[in-house]
Amino acid sequence: MKYAKTKEILNQAVADITQLIMVVRQQHWYMRGAEFLKLHPYLDEVMDELDEQRDLVAERLITIDGSPYSSLQEVLEHTKIEAHPGEWGVSTRERFATIIAGYRYLEHLYEEGIKASDEEGDYGSNDILTSCHTAIDKRIWMMQAQIGEAPKIDE
Ligand SMILES: [Fe+2]
Repeated sequence: MKYAKTKEILNQAVADITQLIMVVRQQHWYMRGAEFLKLHPYLDEVMDELDEQRDLVAERLITIDGSPYSSLQEVLEHTKIEAHPGEWGVSTRERFATIIAGYRYLEHLYEEGIKASDEEGDYGSNDILTSCHTAIDKRIWMMQAQIGEAPKIDE
């Protein structure tokens, strides 16, 4: 089967992006504090970008004869991003740290996908994964800056 490893990673990304959107949504709903009016809408923008990436990745998977996960059941069975019930009283810094941890995981997954698609000669997926990876890197920079940290690309 052509592009087997790439397909596996694309579908893993579909599950993980879906879970990550829920993680961001939780922080968007539960955040309180001085910067709420700025950060609450910022997280809408973050979720829109993730949703666009998920659609790109899933549709690329279909384009190469794959079948993206499309139920919450499948997402829960496959995602490697943890989620917990929402909690009040968590600092904005901790909320961003939670989101950034999910972003770092996704960044590494995209890297694996970039390498696999390169090895398998799937240049279309390689192009999509590279652009998604670059956008995720930029988000990590911005969210790290929000909590007063350097991007820390070695983490
Ligand atoms: Fe909202």
